[in-house]
Amino acid sequence: MPRKAPPSGTRPGIDVLLHENRVFRPDAAFRRRAHVRDVSVYARARGNPEAFWASCAREVAWFRPWKKVLAWNPPHARWFVGGRLNASFNCLDRHLGTAARNRAAILWEGEPGDERTLTYAQLHRETCRFANVLKELGVGRGDRVTLYMPLIPELAIAMLACARIGAVHSVVFGGFSSEALKERINDAKATVLVTADGGFRRGSEVPLKKFSDEALLGAPSVRHVVVVRRGNFPVQMQEGRDRFWHDLMKDRSAECPPEPMNSEDMLYILYTSGTTGKPKGIVHATGGYMVGVHTTTRWVFDLKPEDVYWCTADIGWVTGHSYVVYGPLSNGATVLMYEGAPDWPDRGRFWQICEKYGVTIFYTAPTAIRAFMRWGGDWPGRYDLSSLRLLGTVGEPINPEAWMWYRKKIGGGRCPIVDTWWQTETGMILITPLPGITPTRPGSATRAFPGVEAEVLDERGRVVKEGGGYLAIRRPWPAMLQTIYGDPDRYVKQYWSKWDAGTYFPGDGARRDRRGDFWLLGRVDDVLNVAGHRIGTMEVESALVDHPAVAEAAVVGKAHDLKGQALAAFVTLKEGIQSDGDLVSQLKGHVVRRIGALARPDDIVFTAELPKTRSGKIMRRLLKDIAEGRALGDTTTLADPAVLQVLKQKYEED
Ligand code: PRX
Repeated sequence: MPRKAPPSGTRPGIDVLLHENRVFRPDAAFRRRAHVRDVSVYARARGNPEAFWASCAREVAWFRPWKKVLAWNPPHARWFVGGRLNASFNCLDRHLGTAARNRAAILWEGEPGDERTLTYAQLHRETCRFANVLKELGVGRGDRVTLYMPLIPELAIAMLACARIGAVHSVVFGGFSSEALKERINDAKATVLVTADGGFRRGSEVPLKKFSDEALLGAPSVRHVVVVRRGNFPVQMQEGRDRFWHDLMKDRSAECPPEPMNSEDMLYILYTSGTTGKPKGIVHATGGYMVGVHTTTRWVFDLKPEDVYWCTADIGWVTGHSYVVYGPLSNGATVLMYEGAPDWPDRGRFWQICEKYGVTIFYTAPTAIRAFMRWGGDWPGRYDLSSLRLLGTVGEPINPEAWMWYRKKIGGGRCPIVDTWWQTETGMILITPLPGITPTRPGSATRAFPGVEAEVLDERGRVVKEGGGYLAIRRPWPAMLQTIYGDPDRYVKQYWSKWDAGTYFPGDGARRDRRGDFWLLGRVDDVLNVAGHRIGTMEVESALVDHPAVAEAAVVGKAHDLKGQALAAFVTLKEGIQSDGDLVSQLKGHVVRRIGALARPDDIVFTAELPKTRSGKIMRRLLKDIAEGRALGDTTTLADPAVLQVLKQKYEED
């Protein structure tokens, strides 16, 4: 097969473009026991997607049935119109009268090795109690609550408690800085912040309460702060504003009726990076989202009551929302949560956890798999991983070599791998194999989930049957984002304006092979994927320019063995400022303070000028060539080509 050029701006993804011959068909024994055994499901769903989604929706508990499956007024979709439900009822109450009542909902292990187990009945009680706490703090339907917490059960409890009373949660990943937290609180105008005294990361403390205090200096909407005691970390409590979780929970009633929510009512906001400086508050509604995550969790992971399911994502990301909390719990599953780092106290920690709890389903990111590969097969080899029966990946394209290593070293050659493509915006997995029926090829996410219509289009919107182009989703799906919080115009412009108003543009490049399978190629815009986390180059540029020494900055991604992409920053200093190594570390520190450690640039290069077009646009494409040590692409549109030669030389010297 000839190589096809990826759309301009994508990483070439050579691995993916190489002809991949290896095919792994579902094992007969796996298929016999799988939830989905019959390939006709694809055709059935395609024939009548709304009837298909309605059949999925019947697996969710409703207080009042919907009148209409879908009202589609492009690009606005209303799913299960007229229906009423509650997400926390679906994750908790519906299991209480079943065998799941005393089953572990959460098996939790802290980084230092402490353990907690919460059955469904216990999780229900704690959720109701915290829901009552929130009510007492004046939180009601539609109010926003920001959660800035470590990966501890209280985070799931707080989310479910918000959902229970119809409040909207906005989880901010605990790795974000106080500045990033402040920005997100202010955008959502949250009235309550739930945090912890601190969290553990590689044995040291992440001072979440201290960061919260800094954020709150500039976030006047917050009236109450609830602080979970996670470690015995010292904290300053502000009288009248701050209360400890355990004090508030004392004597709280364990009964709290779930608020009947309209299907279209907001369940949560989750901020994600876009192409402009400001993060976007992605809004998810209740009904469609619950149907989407319930169904995909059951089908893609083939989740059964006896499984021990471990998705290693932090709850602060969408993967944690959909596939640690809402999807698995609404299925009555046993969810494992581990608070800390994979290499603490040593590089065998994940495998030791798999052995100890008998993990059967394991879902992680390619960046983690590449790190495991680098650490060597001896680490997993020391543990008994025979309980595993299914593996998953998400967050970025997986290179075939990593896929094969995962299959062999972790899956013992017997576990199917589901490579799942989706986004914060999509809320649910959209492209994935179904493990009992879909043949897989290393590096391909295979095909659209039943009821989802995906295609590859060219710039002008023409269908590319075989070859490269842009990924497009042609019809609405239940868990799709509703809007961008407070910015409905940007919602339309960003996602529904590349082609026609009914076609969703995710911003990813993709290739289709002759079988129609999808090979994802990475982002086509100014959004980078660093270790599976989306980072807008604009955000990092804004953080750099915010430093008093910086006049101008351009940030690009460069290929990185472990992280997929790393950040390289090209910086012009203000007149009279001396560049030195000290300033490099100062600037890196500045970005960490503004955004968080996940956005720290690997390289910072000072330059008297940035390469620009005659109209003044920074040519990031050429900077990327420099950062990746490639021959420079087309430079004919540059205002001053000499700038580039100097820069290239300088980068190589540094
Ligand atoms: O570029 C795609 C990549 O991650 C982006 C979405 O990032 P985020 O909203 O943070 O959500 C990550 C977890 C769902 C996508 O636009 N991506 C995600 N999954 C895959 C992927 N790229 C290739 N293959 C995947 N399986």
